[in-house]
Amino acid sequence: MSESTTPRFTAENPFRIGIVGTGGIARVHADNVRRLEGRARIVGACDIDAERVQDFQSAWDVPVGTTDLEELLDSVELDIVHLCSPPGLHKEQAIAVLRRGIHVLSEKPPALSLAELDEIAEAEQAGGAQFATVSQHRFGSRALWLRDRVADGALGRPMTAVCNTLWYRPDSYFDVPWRGKWDIEGGGPTMGHGIHQMDTMLSVLGSWSQVVAVAARQARPVITEDLTHAIVTLDNGAVVSVVNSLLSPKETSYLRFDFEYATVELEHLYGYSDASWTVTAAPGYEDAVADAWAKGPSGSGSGHFAQFEAILDAVEQNAPLPVTLHQARGTLELIAGIYASAFTGSRIDAGSIDASSPFYRSMEGSGAPWGGAPSLSDAQVEPAGAAEVVA
Ligand SMILES: NC(=O)c1ccc[n+]([C@@H]2O[C@H](COP(=O)([O-])OP(=O)(O)OC[C@H]3O[C@@H](n4cnc5c(N)ncnc54)[C@H](O)[C@@H]3O)[C@@H](O)[C@H]2O)c1
Repeated sequence: MSESTTPRFTAENPFRIGIVGTGGIARVHADNVRRLEGRARIVGACDIDAERVQDFQSAWDVPVGTTDLEELLDSVELDIVHLCSPPGLHKEQAIAVLRRGIHVLSEKPPALSLAELDEIAEAEQAGGAQFATVSQHRFGSRALWLRDRVADGALGRPMTAVCNTLWYRPDSYFDVPWRGKWDIEGGGPTMGHGIHQMDTMLSVLGSWSQVVAVAARQARPVITEDLTHAIVTLDNGAVVSVVNSLLSPKETSYLRFDFEYATVELEHLYGYSDASWTVTAAPGYEDAVADAWAKGPSGSGSGHFAQFEAILDAVEQNAPLPVTLHQARGTLELIAGIYASAFTGSRIDAGSIDASSPFYRSMEGSGAPWGGAPSLSDAQVEPAGAAEVVA
């Protein structure tokens, strides 16, 4: 962070944001920065597509626009850079920014592999600025409430959970060149879509210890999987069923936590409000659970806004920027564990994917059994029974 910045952000002294990649999600960032009412301002943007960056500048009143990241960093004073670029660029761009002592907020996934994330961690340590990952579902009021209740034990012991990302993406979704490829997107729905639900689940229930999984490429014209199922055992003994799918016409994002004294459910699609959460008490615990639920915070949903506010607060308080690299690593390691289990047929222990494992360097690891990319016509004619499934 540049020395001229003081820790209190106001309209006169806003937190200065640079945006890299001015495509779809960048507009969500711009809209939510605007809602911060002057505490933060986008002062520069960069995209390899000159027309796109110009359009972004005009739409969001951004004074500086470039087609090159280094040029952006040279031409404007920044406190943080939001990486809204394709996943395969996050590592290289994060390191370039961190080397300048500027914070980074990367869109998910923060990197393509654990190896890449560890390289970012080295740059973070060397440069003095921090690397944070967007995981906006951690920040809604009820998610904060649930994490506090797990910490104070008010709902009793967590025993089991369900973590489903049942989404639908037609073949045309994969026309965008970086989608559905190991070397640019990093994986299929496990990496690119279910990451939100898995990250929220781990943020509530704590770290995982073992995973066993199955992956399949059923239908989509992708090199990666389009479906995984996993059974994850957590350090606290709870067992979680996880499904990540892009094949599900009736879409839902569903998290269910069964504690000793209550079931807590979250059902939504791409973002939740307070109304997306429900609680059901176990017999005998109705009053205590209803009382705890009624006292909880409310009013804030899962959008980027709450995380941006949390980041501003953290910078002002000189605290770690959420979601920290360490927190994001637990989720990325679970994703690597799911692929490793599915592609090797083994049960994977947390901590076992080290530099000697092919799954450390790439989520594809030792290779998906279905090999390379199908053509669209192959995918369309392939009968359902011939889907490539691996345990
Ligand atoms: N948090 C969420 O809910 C959420 C939702 C959607 C996407 N995302 C993530 O956001 C990221 C971007 O996704 P998107 O849907 O906005 O993609 P997009 O393709 O719409 O936008 C990416 C932009 O990056 C630009 N770009 C490519 N190479 C570049 C480079 N070298 N330097 C600068 N810009 C470059 C492209 O020209 C494009 O404008 C991905 O990591 C994706 O997973 C997160």
